[in-house]
Amino acid sequence: MSDANDVTRKIIVFGHDTLRRHAKLVPAVDDSIRELVDSMFATMYGAPGIGLAAPQVDESLAVIVVHPRSEEEETRALALINPETLDYGGRSTFEEGCLSVPGIFEDIRRPSWIKARYLDFDGAEVTEEFDGLMARVIQHEMDHLKGKLFIDHLSPMRRALIKRRLRNIQAD
Ligand code: NI
Repeated sequence: MSDANDVTRKIIVFGHDTLRRHAKLVPAVDDSIRELVDSMFATMYGAPGIGLAAPQVDESLAVIVVHPRSEEEETRALALINPETLDYGGRSTFEEGCLSVPGIFEDIRRPSWIKARYLDFDGAEVTEEFDGLMARVIQHEMDHLKGKLFIDHLSPMRRALIKRRLRNIQAD
């Protein structure tokens, strides 16, 4: 059944070309971009997931939304447009998954904090430091903008072990 108010989008999965493309910078944060952000939040919450990048809904644009949940640390819903990493440091390992790589969860090592610059929902430039879950999810989503998936961080051996499961996702 279709609902006229349902703005959720279809999430594309491993094997789709758009996931491997470099996303284009957003020239201006206008209503069409704000609509995209709204639909991405709806799609992310509906999945449910804790982060989503525009290429995952087949829009090759530098837009991500995140909203990790934690009882131990402060997190929030945030849209980042044209995000870039200015600095990073530390190391942490955390189990990641991805709505475009369903059913696969792997420990991934990443910097534990980042300093990022991005445009917010109103088009204002923001420079902000993130750590913990926010840093983790933002880095995962920013990888999507470079055509990179979390499984690309795995060792060749680990990658070989999940090869068949990846093929099954692709075949669907
Ligand atoms: Ni992902």
